[in-house]
Order: sequence, then C-alpha cells, then structure tokens
Amino acid sequence: MKIAATIAEARALIAALREERRGSAQGNAVGFVPTMGYLHEGHASLLRRSRAESGISVLSIFVNPIQFGPGEDLDRYPRSEKADLELAGREGVDVVFLPSVDEMYPEERKATVTVTGVTERLCGASRPGHFDGVATVVSKLFHIVKPDKAFFGAKDAQQVAVLQKMVTDLNMDVEIVPCPIVREEDGLALSSRNVYLSSEQRREALVLSRSLREAAVLIETDVSVTSRQITNQVTKAIETSPLAEIDYVELLTFPNLEPLVADRELSDLRQSGGSVILAVAVKFGTTRLIDNVIMKLKEAPLHV
Ligand code: PAJ
Repeated sequence: MKIAATIAEARALIAALREERRGSAQGNAVGFVPTMGYLHEGHASLLRRSRAESGISVLSIFVNPIQFGPGEDLDRYPRSEKADLELAGREGVDVVFLPSVDEMYPEERKATVTVTGVTERLCGASRPGHFDGVATVVSKLFHIVKPDKAFFGAKDAQQVAVLQKMVTDLNMDVEIVPCPIVREEDGLALSSRNVYLSSEQRREALVLSRSLREAAVLIETDVSVTSRQITNQVTKAIETSPLAEIDYVELLTFPNLEPLVADRELSDLRQSGGSVILAVAVKFGTTRLIDNVIMKLKEAPLHV
C-alpha cells in the first residue's frame, strides 16, 4: 500500500498503477472511497466493495474544513491515522491519499460547486454551506484520483443524492455507487461521531434506528397511513428520550428529496412504485446523529 501526501504524488502513483495493471485479470479500473478518517466498519464495507469491483482501490482521508459550519466539530473531529492505515491495509487499499489542508486549499478559494434543489431540506437546511463544501471537495478529489467508480454510504443519503446530481449535471465520468448502512448489532448506525456519546446517550440513541424500523413496518403494512402520521409517530418515539433534541424528522421522495405535499401522497407514490426516505437528525448533548431508511413503495397485497 502506497501513501500519498501530495496531489502530484497521488496522481503519479495512480497513473503508474493504471499502466501496470492494464490487461491484468482484475483490470485497471479505479475504485475510490473518500472519507474523513477515524475509520470504522461502515468505511470498511465501502473499501471491500471498491476492492471487489475495481482493479485499483484508492482511499482518501481528509477532514475537509469547508464542509464544517461555525460552531461545528471541526476542531475536535476524531483522528486516528495509525489505526486508519492498518484498516486500509487489511482491506487491500492500493493508494491512500492523505493530504494536508494547505495541500488541498493552498490559497483563497474562488471556485465552489453548488448543487441546488436536493440541498434545500434535511442537513442542507440545518447546516448552511455544508453541501457546497462536500460537493467542492469531492469534485476536487475526483479530478485528482480520476476514479471509474466512487463508493458512498447510504448513511449520508442526502450526500449521495447531491453527488449523484453533481456528476450527472456536470458530466463527470464517474459512477456513484451507493452502499447500505452498516449498523451495530443493536441497530445504532456506525459513525465516527459515536465516540463522543456518553454511555447513557449511546443507550438512548438507539431510539433513532428503533423508531425508523417501526415506521418502516407501518409504511409497508398500512396502505392508508399518511406521511404526517409517520413523522408524528417517529417524533413522539424520539421525544420519549429526555436526552434527545430533534433537529428534523422528515419523510421525502427519494432521490429528489421533495416533500409529500398532501397527506395522501404516500398512497399516490405506492401506485407509481416511487421511493421515499424517512430521515432524522437528533442531537444528544453536542453530538448530532443522523439516520435514515429508504424504501421503495409497493402496492400492498389486496385483503379479501
Ligand atoms: P465520512 O463521514 O468519513 O464518511 C465517508 C463515507 O463513509 C461516506 O460515504 C459515508 O456515507 C460512509 N459511511 C459512514 N458511516 C457509514 C455506515 N454506518 N455505513 C455505511 N457507510 C458509512 O462523508 C464524508 O466522510 C465526507 O462528507 C466526504 C464524502 C469524505 C467529503 O469530505
């Protein structure tokens, strides 16, 4: 495994591997997993997928300052370079790109990638400028790594929707591959930020996955349930935790992330086989957790 600290090194290493593996059995397509480090099993699942689907596997670790708002956790974002590199080695990564902030942003930045529409709600609404930061850094990373495929977790479903729109609208020659959410056995979605949680907060945070699961069952089994009933039920369930402070609970169409305007719209979507996302963001103390479930709606079997 090679480690590149500069853009020039990363480009040279990847170009050399492309050349070396041309015509080899596993091919020389580049699979790419961008991360902010402090890697866990969720990141590992993306690396495994990248390894399985590409002849060359590239990982980037970069805590991107421009996607953090004022008062967010940039300064205390957890880091663990040694453990990250060990995990990368185990997952068969060929090149790790580990740039400094100065390497990525050497001077005042005048170009920004902005995706509108899908950024209006959810985290786009509660973290102004966040997705400009994400789209800008991912676009820079794509220009550096030139991947054929890039792997992203559905844990950050809005991020996937934003990046999918970015590559489509800007004709970037890369396939965005969404991958399932990896959870702890008790249901908590893995996140680098889980280390901030006290044991009591950690226990209460289970209300997120539990309430989403219950709502998903309701959506699947009750054809006449309304979007309002769903979000009310999830809100009530989360409010039973005294430590939880809700940022949002929203049911939207997926991947366009538009609201279900009329209560009846869930049933309309069922007929057209549309998909919805039920997404939550909740603070436990100063730690903000997100979780979601994406469902393709089916017309329930007729009851006689
Ligand atoms: P980060 O939070 O480190 O996440 C890197 C990738 O891992 C993202 O695609 C994220 O969705 C995925 N991931 C995190 N937790 C996961 C889980 N429990 N199951 C499956 N996948 C999971 O997302 C970012 O970094 C940044 O915004 C980045 C895209 C790197 C741009 O800076």
